[in-house]
Amino acid sequence: MTSLGVNIDHIANLRQARQTIEPEPILLAMLAELGGADGITIHLREDRRHIQDRDVELLRKTVQSRLNLEMAATEEMTQIALKNHPDMVTLVPERREEVTTEGGLDVVENESKLKKVITKIQEAGIPVSLFVDPFEPQLEACSRTGANWIEIHTGNYANATFQNRALELAKIKEATAKATSLGLRVNAGHGLTYQNVEPIAAIQGIEELNIGHTIIARSIAVGLKEAVHEMKQLINNPRENIFIS
Ligand code: PXP
Repeated sequence: MTSLGVNIDHIANLRQARQTIEPEPILLAMLAELGGADGITIHLREDRRHIQDRDVELLRKTVQSRLNLEMAATEEMTQIALKNHPDMVTLVPERREEVTTEGGLDVVENESKLKKVITKIQEAGIPVSLFVDPFEPQLEACSRTGANWIEIHTGNYANATFQNRALELAKIKEATAKATSLGLRVNAGHGLTYQNVEPIAAIQGIEELNIGHTIIARSIAVGLKEAVHEMKQLINNPRENIFIS
């Protein structure tokens, strides 16, 4: 059965939009686990736009499933990974101007630099995954770096027109078969939704899907009615002196 890693970056996005204490990613990660998440995924970006350093530290202590830390292959992030020891590090490309991760790593171009970072993290006993497009030369380069896992970028499949979707799906299927033949273990993610996830989940060889935006969006849809109801209860039956001891 395919596992589900829930990406909770968007919870932190909402908190940072107000620079406040809610929603609390630590609490909501626990709820995601209660809902069946097999892992919690977070991306500590260099600009700290959503997940903060304290989230990494607290989630390391509280996540009961597996903590997957997505990060750029920089010295700063490597030190943070070594300090917090997540259950997996997924190396992703990062551009400051991007709204979200826009594509896979160019492993072919950055092979030797990545190899050094991967070795350092693996020596601390942390498995490393590389986020890559389903493109054979990239998979071969991944294998040469000594990475244990890849995460196939499903964004092009997710964004494809109806006519092109079968082609993008076939690329992911072929890439999964190629990667497993190279001895790599395979995850996938980005842009997956309740509407498009099933053909990806059915691919033999993909072990885990990392899904964020659609799940957090759906949680608002399924939770908003109850949240408004709770506020109405307080407004209609107010207790006057709750802050007087
Ligand atoms: N995998 C990687 C490497 C990502 O960068 C992201 C987005 O942060 C995801 C999976 C999840 O993507 P989405 O939020 O579109 O489900």
